[in-house]
Amino acid sequence: MSDVANPSTPQSEVSESSISQSALSVTQRPRRLRRTEALRRMVRENTLRVEDLIYPLFVMEGEGQREEIPSMPDCYRYTLDLLLTEVQEVYGLGIGAIALFPLIPYDQKDNAGTESYNPNGLIPRAVRAIKQAVPKILVITDVALDPYSSEGHDGIVQDGKILNDETVAVLVKQALVQAEAGADFVAPSDMMDGRVGAIRKALDAEGWINVGILAYSAKYASAYYGPFRDALDSAPKFGDKKTYQMDAANAREAIKEVDLDIAEGADIVMVKPALAYLDIICQIKQHTNLPVAAYNVSGEYAMIKAAAAQGWIDEKKVILETLTSMKRAGADLILTYFAKEVALMLQ
Ligand code: PBG
Repeated sequence: MSDVANPSTPQSEVSESSISQSALSVTQRPRRLRRTEALRRMVRENTLRVEDLIYPLFVMEGEGQREEIPSMPDCYRYTLDLLLTEVQEVYGLGIGAIALFPLIPYDQKDNAGTESYNPNGLIPRAVRAIKQAVPKILVITDVALDPYSSEGHDGIVQDGKILNDETVAVLVKQALVQAEAGADFVAPSDMMDGRVGAIRKALDAEGWINVGILAYSAKYASAYYGPFRDALDSAPKFGDKKTYQMDAANAREAIKEVDLDIAEGADIVMVKPALAYLDIICQIKQHTNLPVAAYNVSGEYAMIKAAAAQGWIDEKKVILETLTSMKRAGADLILTYFAKEVALMLQ
């Protein structure tokens, strides 16, 4: 029986004679609204739009090269020249914002992440070049020490512990260098206490009142970040990130973190990862009037790519269903490595 049966065809004509005519009498038939694609589209509650997407991109030193990230098929680290071409292309597809992450050579890493606030470092150079080549695209820069840390942590390490306030002082310098380079938003992803307020205060004091803060407010200590750490060679050299990133079992604490970041001056709050935390996205959306972002992280990307490569799932359909679930949960914005693929699908 066709999905798009002509509504003028009485049910009896398409019924098989072996099936007895139903005497069922119901007032509501929800299936009436699912009968055709035009109808389903009309009553659809949430729609994934290319405008909702932020594309995370990996940049590395060098020229004329791109390297596929083994645990993230179809996702590359680009040298700056090739990154510009990619940014141009995705802007042409309607993607309005990118988030940048650097691969830092090991000899430039140290415990205090000093390369993170080098005004001529890879990220400031990338931001300047992108802003020159594609001025209208929004550039979001990550504020955290891990790509620059010899310890692979988001903060300065002393005696096996992560120092909070000393780290925030470095994050402030990093954010200022990124603002100076032309970043539209800085995105603290480190989970140190008080960093949003310290960064807001410093940006304002230096006159960067229009540089926004996209706060990784509810960022969980998650095993879903594995492929990203491969991409940046940034896995912790010891221990884990549980003394600063949130416990996966907590929900109320996410609201607390969001409240703090808003009080400290965040413009957009984020939940990360997304798929295993849809309930958190939903609660935060109901709690605040700020835009809510969700980070569809590397491990979520890798799972879909791996299953699709085996032929076990329909990749395109699973991508759209997954990202739509994030919108349905309440995400206004989605950071996703699928952004380009989705932009092509939505065209
Ligand atoms: C680091 C940072 C991480 C991600 C974004 N920023 C990794 C981590 O916290 O260990 C993960 C993104 C992803 O997995 O896609 N501050």
